[in-house]
Amino acid sequence: MIDILVGGFYGDEGKGKVASYLALKDKPEMAVRTGSINAGHTAVYKGRKYKLRSIPSGFLSPKTKLIIPPGALIKREILFKEMEETGTKERIFIDGHAGVITDAEAEEERKNALLSNEVGSTKQGVGAAESKRILRSLRLAKDYPELAQFMMDVPAEVLKCIDNGGKVQVEGSQGHFLSLYHGEYPYVTSRNTTSSGILSEVGVGPGYAKDIIVIFKSFITRVGGGPLSGEIGQDEAKRLGMDEYGTVTGRQRRVAPFDVKLAKDVVRINSANQIAITKADTLFKGAGKVRQYQNLPKQARDWIEDIERNVGVPVTLIGTGEDALDMVDRRSELIEE
Ligand code: GTP
Ligand code: MG
Repeated sequence: MIDILVGGFYGDEGKGKVASYLALKDKPEMAVRTGSINAGHTAVYKGRKYKLRSIPSGFLSPKTKLIIPPGALIKREILFKEMEETGTKERIFIDGHAGVITDAEAEEERKNALLSNEVGSTKQGVGAAESKRILRSLRLAKDYPELAQFMMDVPAEVLKCIDNGGKVQVEGSQGHFLSLYHGEYPYVTSRNTTSSGILSEVGVGPGYAKDIIVIFKSFITRVGGGPLSGEIGQDEAKRLGMDEYGTVTGRQRRVAPFDVKLAKDVVRINSANQIAITKADTLFKGAGKVRQYQNLPKQARDWIEDIERNVGVPVTLIGTGEDALDMVDRRSELIEE
């Protein structure tokens, strides 16, 4: 069956961290990375930090096949560089219909005033390439001889894997409120970032989904323009240890406190049955690197349980540090209950 990881706010909630943890624990047969190079996912393990813009964060599980689905977009230079850095060339598979971005698209976006000045796009060429695809003029992975060795019919192989009882992890990118359809247009990205959009990039139906995990961070961050309710100043964010800098652009992210009401709406729309919350260690002193729920400070546990009561869905995973394994995992409690 398929597990879907979806960002609950404006991206950068820590999908890379949750995906890498779950891959190490669950060892899925396949890890699929949706979206494109405008989203940077961070995975930290054994003292190394990987910033991934193309390869699934589940690569840390050594036998997992790493999949780029038809709805994703790649840039060859970035893909090959990441394959090299992660040593994963033999287990990368790309659907022939994945779109291919070139410098031409990035150049187009740099010249676009709306994207540059107002929307605050990362200008990696993703939107320009996607619009070419819609106009049927983008070249796809199957059109490039240097990608021939990686070709896979992804929906067919995902179904085969499921038929054999295998697990498929699907890693969303960006977040709910950046969705082209459901976010705050025009301050959105060029794709549908919600759970249904993520599945459509893979190309199989919702009936195969088992767990849909919405990932929140213990505070909200946003890059680029657009509304951010409850936004605090950059100095205050620094004082609270909530200052973050974009993986792709290096820009300081805008910050707001966690919002339970937003979280509830997001969980319902994405039909999530679990919540993951990262960076509990930023919000609560004494939560750093904790791996057992009962060892979290009482204040942190109360906060988590308050979210569960208000949202009506269990918080199964709680991030307590950068390392993939710095995680409180309550999934087994669910099954026993
Ligand atoms: P997008 O697809 O771009 O939305 O990215 P993402 O959701 O994968 O998040 P990203 O890696 O861009 O940002 C999250 C940051 O928080 C990274 O620097 C992570 O290393 C860090 N991080 C994630 N989880 C935790 C945690 O539980 N504790 C701490 N201290 N850091 C964390
Ligand atoms: Mg990111």
